[in-house]
Amino acid sequence: MNAKKINIAIDGYSSCGKSTLAKQLAKALGYIYVDSGSMYRAIALYAIRNGLVKNGKVDAKRLIEELPNIDISFQYDNYSDKIYTCLNNENVEDEIRNNIAVSEIVSKISQIPEVRQKLHHIQQRIAQNKGVVMDGRDIGSVVLPDAELKIFMTADKKIRAQRRFEELKKKGVNITLQEVLDNLEKRDYDDTHRKVNPLTQPQDAKILDNSNLTPQEQLQLALQWAKEKIKENEVEC
Ligand code: DC
Repeated sequence: MNAKKINIAIDGYSSCGKSTLAKQLAKALGYIYVDSGSMYRAIALYAIRNGLVKNGKVDAKRLIEELPNIDISFQYDNYSDKIYTCLNNENVEDEIRNNIAVSEIVSKISQIPEVRQKLHHIQQRIAQNKGVVMDGRDIGSVVLPDAELKIFMTADKKIRAQRRFEELKKKGVNITLQEVLDNLEKRDYDDTHRKVNPLTQPQDAKILDNSNLTPQEQLQLALQWAKEKIKENEVEC
């Protein structure tokens, strides 16, 4: 008999390795991985392409009017074993990651309540049949408050900055460690202080501080938690 599936919500600060863990967990459990940040990025891309961003400001009124014309979905590519974010059926995965303008404006886009509402609806629909690992900032607190397992990830900010710095260096980005650290502190502040659905630590979340853990060690820990929850869930049903 198949084990009963659960939902897993992973929230935490930027550059904590949330997506690395979420992808690994989904693979190990045979679950669907959903990167909620990519959905905010896809809407940011739509706003940029349609002239709704000028001088670092978003025309929120027009973007809200345009929301019914924006479809965000995911496609799985067998060949590369990767999931792609699609904006109105176009694969925009690379563009939402590499376009600096997207990274610069996405935080403002994510503060628009109507945008959040639309994405929450899609996220909840994807998770309704269970078997989902979703990462973001408000997944355990708002999107999937009933997720059987909630993980809140954190790590020392200097360690996070160093990891991000090395990643960017590998990509050939010309940036100093101090600039990475400053950017990270700003993003932590924005995420935890915004008015709508700020990043919070759900009371029932397991805390995973990965400052001194390898990706393999953190996966083992999270897998152990997931297996315990799957077992509990079977007993309850
Ligand atoms: O995880 P990320 O950097 O790709 O997220 C992009 C932006 O979207 C970032 O500003 C935080 C925001 N976000 C959010 O507000 N809620 C989520 N569930 C996920 C991301």
